[in-house]
Order: sequence, then C-alpha cells, then structure tokens
Amino acid sequence: MKGLILAAGRGTRLRPLTHTRPKPVIRVAGRPILHYAVDNLLEAGIEEIGVVVSPETEKDIREALSGYRVRYVLQEEPQGLAHAVAVAQEFLGESPFVLYLGDNLFQKGIRRFLQAFQEGVSAVIALVRVENPRQFGVAVLEGERIVRLLEKPKEPPSDLAVAGVYVFTPEVFPVIQNLKPSARGEYEITDAIQGLIDQGKRVVGVEVEGWWKDTGRPADLLDANRLLLEELPSRLEGEVEASQLTGRVVVERGARVVGSTVIGPAFIGKGAVVEGAYIGPFTSLGPGVRVVRSEVEYSILEDHAVLEDVALRLQESILGVGAEVKSRNGLPRAHRLILGDLSQVELA
Ligand code: DAU
Repeated sequence: MKGLILAAGRGTRLRPLTHTRPKPVIRVAGRPILHYAVDNLLEAGIEEIGVVVSPETEKDIREALSGYRVRYVLQEEPQGLAHAVAVAQEFLGESPFVLYLGDNLFQKGIRRFLQAFQEGVSAVIALVRVENPRQFGVAVLEGERIVRLLEKPKEPPSDLAVAGVYVFTPEVFPVIQNLKPSARGEYEITDAIQGLIDQGKRVVGVEVEGWWKDTGRPADLLDANRLLLEELPSRLEGEVEASQLTGRVVVERGARVVGSTVIGPAFIGKGAVVEGAYIGPFTSLGPGVRVVRSEVEYSILEDHAVLEDVALRLQESILGVGAEVKSRNGLPRAHRLILGDLSQVELA
C-alpha cells in the first residue's frame, strides 16, 4: 500500500494567506497541516508516500516536510484531483494506494478506511455527515455500498459528504484516462469513482470517526486549531519568567514568556517572544512570533508575525507570516493600514 498526498492546489478561498504560500503549510496547533497527513499515513503503516506539488508550491512544501522521507511528484497545472492521481501513476505503479487531500484533517487517523479495503473492493471512500453538502462531493449509499456520487451538487441527494481520504486499486487508472473535464474545468476524482460504480465495481463508503476538517476557509483553520489544541499535552521547553500559565500550554525551545498571562490550551512556538501580554485559549503562535504588551485569543499567528502595543484584544484572527499589527503613537489618532490584496480587517 502506498500513500499519495495532494498539495498542488491554489487555495483560493484562503487568500491572502495563500498568495505567497500553499495552504497545507499553514500551521495549526503549531504544525503545518501536511504533517498531520504524513503522520496519519505512517501511523497506518504506509511508508512509501508521494506528495503531489505544483511549480509554485514545491519549495514551501519541501521545506515543511524536510524532516520526512517522501517522494515528490510535480503536477504542472492544478487540473483536478483525478489529474493529480494520473501524474503520479509512475510512482504508484501496480500498488493499491491511499489518496489523501493535503488540506484535510482527521482526528482519528485513517486505519478505519484501510480495514474496509478487502478482497473484491475497488475503492473505499471516507464519508462524513454535514449540514452543507453542497460544498462537497456527495454520496448515495445502499448498505455500505456507494451507488452514486456527485461533485458539489446544487440539490444534494444526501447529507453524506466525501471527506478527503480514498483507498484505490490501480483499476482506477484506465477510468481516469477516459474522463472529460467537469463544468468547473477539472478532472474530478468523483467522476472517476462514479466510473468505477458504473462498471459494477464495488465501492464502499466508511463514515469518519471523530472530527474531520476541510481547512478551506479561515474559520475552518481557527476551528481546526482549537480542536487540535484541545488534545495537545503541555510541554515547557522555553523560558518562563514572572508569568502565570494556566491549563495546557506548550512553550517550545528558545521561546520566552515574560510578565505575561497565558491561559491554555495554547501553543507558543520556537523562539517566540511573549512580553507583558495576555495569550488566551485556542491561540497558536508560530516560530519567532512577538506578542508584546498586547492581548490575543482564539487566533493563529504565523511565523514571525508581530503584535505590539495594541490596546484592543485580538480575537478570531489569523496573521500571516511576517504580518505586523502595531499601535501608532502620537497624532493624528488614525489607523494606518498596508494590506495585501484580499486582506480582511474588522475594526471595533
Ligand atoms: O475536502 C473534501 C472535498 O475535497 C471533497 O468533498 C470533494 O469531493 C473533492 O473534490 C475536494 O473538493 P475541494 O474543492 O475542496 O478540493 P480542492 O480543490 O480544495 O483540492 C483539495 C486538495 O487537493 C488541496 O490540498 C489541493 C490539492 N489539489 C487540488 C487540485 C484541484 C491538487 O493537488 N491538484 C489539483 O489539481
């Protein structure tokens, strides 16, 4: 069994965060989203792992996965999930494989889906009941068997969404070769699976256990951060001075917390500086972040972001790599903003 993680998309719904970096390298609870995918594959005993990247995402993805042994497969254009599988055919060879969308998070890993992959089964699809099935692939089940699959239907025939893990046999390759692009111009994996069903192949749906997150929108990232922090054990490796830490808090190596209050669950990454500050529940600070004389909770501050002398508490916020929020001293008392395309600011 091999693993194939897809990390070549454009992440348009997360702009501006994804203007300069691909979505799967964004950190939740201190680690790039991709790490959770690789760890889940390894934990299920899958050691031969390929990662599909695009020319724009390759450098960042390689850097984020530098501690792991994986193979990279280049997809020149993000022409759809089935297209990504086709470009990885040489890597996958004759082996069955797990297809894992690099922006999806599964609390309880993926073993359950592998267990359902038995003799005579052509594909296993992870399914999850959702309130908004229009945004996903949607399945119709008869018993455990999937009889119909539709990509983002206007009128969903069920509330069973396709979550981002699939197990396939190489039988899927000839079906992919015959696909036509969908209305949105992509080669859809959903259509390939429907193709298998139409050939009378056995395609099985298995419901996800525990929580599942597609990190498509900023609110999903914050929620995923919360869910992962809820499970993170405390770890104090950095320096803590004249500060009060309550609940589960991680302070990584080289981080300094001085004269501050931290209420967990919270994550303070390598080399971060927290000074005269309040860090509230469900907050993750990436490496090298500075929070000085400011308050923040339920937020993600990515690598080297800065929050300094800001009077009002920051909440439900995501600061991208190197983003800075500081107060402006003196007159006029005005906001001064230098925002990238599609940035969002809500002022009190
Ligand atoms: O998250 C679950 C949903 O994922 C499923 O319910 C849908 O059936 C499935 O089509 C997919 O829908 P999305 O619209 O959310 O897929 P997205 O374009 O966000 O791509 C998912 C991941 O695959 C993302 O990490 C980028 C990567 N990707 C995407 C495309 C289009 C590639 O590596 N290559 C590609 O060509």
